[in-house]
Order: sequence, then structure tokens, then C-alpha cells
Amino acid sequence: MKLAPSILAADFARLGDQVAEAERAGADRIHIDVMDGHFVPNLSMGAPIVASLRPVTRLPLEIHLMISNPDLFLHEFVDSGSDSFLVHWEGNANLHRTIQRIRALGKRAGLAINPATPASVLEEILPDLDQVLVMTVDPGFGHQHFLYSTLGKISRVRQLIDCVKPECELEVDGGIDSETAKLCVEAGANVLVAGSSVFGTAKSVVEAMSRLRPGAK
Ligand code: DX5
Ligand code: ZN
Repeated sequence: MKLAPSILAADFARLGDQVAEAERAGADRIHIDVMDGHFVPNLSMGAPIVASLRPVTRLPLEIHLMISNPDLFLHEFVDSGSDSFLVHWEGNANLHRTIQRIRALGKRAGLAINPATPASVLEEILPDLDQVLVMTVDPGFGHQHFLYSTLGKISRVRQLIDCVKPECELEVDGGIDSETAKLCVEAGANVLVAGSSVFGTAKSVVEAMSRLRPGAK
């Protein structure tokens, strides 16, 4: 099981320190949420943040693009030091092309699906993916409540992945805390994205992350 802390909940005045702390605490990658105010009703950050973080950590930087036209921004994010991209199924009429572009840039390609999107949309594209991201909240904001209705879908995605491409990672994102982390892993997830439960508590990042690991109380 891998942990991908989301910097959306970090203290931006101390971003480099927070990422370094997450690395010391055993994070497997850093999850960076990019929002454009169109695809989701919120704004967040862009490629300059990736460029600033690149010298601070050796961890892979994973870019979750919640934007209307991801193809327009891929090069900029690659030049800034990104390692992988999660693009959404929703609203992308040329998804196969987007995934091929990411692969042609030599980066890992992941597909994110929203809570209302069924697992079955993955069938044709799964052979081209390195990661599937099941959104466990509606994208756009940190600190939302986990949607328990997504657990059945996580199991269905696990079955599909095991049949079609067992090496593909199954990641979950939104409302992940010590309780929901356990449920997601039981349902078949092997990468957990967590923002507020890592950076938004009174605990240290080390302690907060240890609570998300299997067997933690
Ligand atoms: C939500 C983002 C998430 C967010 C998760 O749209 O994709 O990555 O940072 O935040 P928490 O862990 O607070 O739900
Ligand atoms: Zn995310």
C-alpha cells in the first residue's frame, strides 16, 4: 500500500518543509491537485508549484488535472518536473489521444473517475493505463466527507484490473482518514491520496501518516 500526500491541505507558506517532512515520513509520491475553476468550481495551483518543489524532493510528483483541456498543459508540467498525470474521464471526448500524449512524453498515465461514473468506462482504456484513480468525493475541494457508496465501485475496479492489467495501480482520493483508508484497502485500493488527514491536523506529518497505514489504530 502506498501513500500519496496531497499538498492541497498543506501550509503553503511552508510548502517545501511540509513536502520534505512527508518524504521523511515515508510518502511514496506527492499528489498535486490542479483546478481551473471550470472543470471543478475551485482554483488551486499550476506548473510553477511543481517547478519549485522539484529540487526539494526526490519523490515522484503526481499531477491530478481537474481542468477542462488537459492536453494544453502537459508540456508545461513535464518541463516543470512532473512524473505522472491523472486525467479525468468526464468531459474528455478525445481521452485515448490524451493518454497516448502522456505516454509519448514518457510519463505515467492515470485515469480518474468521479463518484457518478461507473467502473465499466475503464474497459477499453485500461490496457493503456498505469493507474486508475477512483474519486471518493466529488472533485474540487479538500476536507470533504468520504462517499461510502464508492466502495462497491473500488471492488469492481479491482476485479477489472486483476483481469486486464494486474500491474495497474488502484488509487483512491478524497476523505481518506484512518477509518476510510482501511475500508478502501479492503476493497482493493493500493494507493491512498490524503490531504487534510496528513497536513490538516494538529499532529505531525509523521504521526498523521502512520495512522493511515494498515494496522494503525
Ligand atoms: C479533491 C482532490 C483531493 C484532495 C483530497 O478534489 O482531488 O486530492 O486534496 O483532500 P482530502 O484528503 O482532504 O479529502
Ligand atoms: Zn486529487
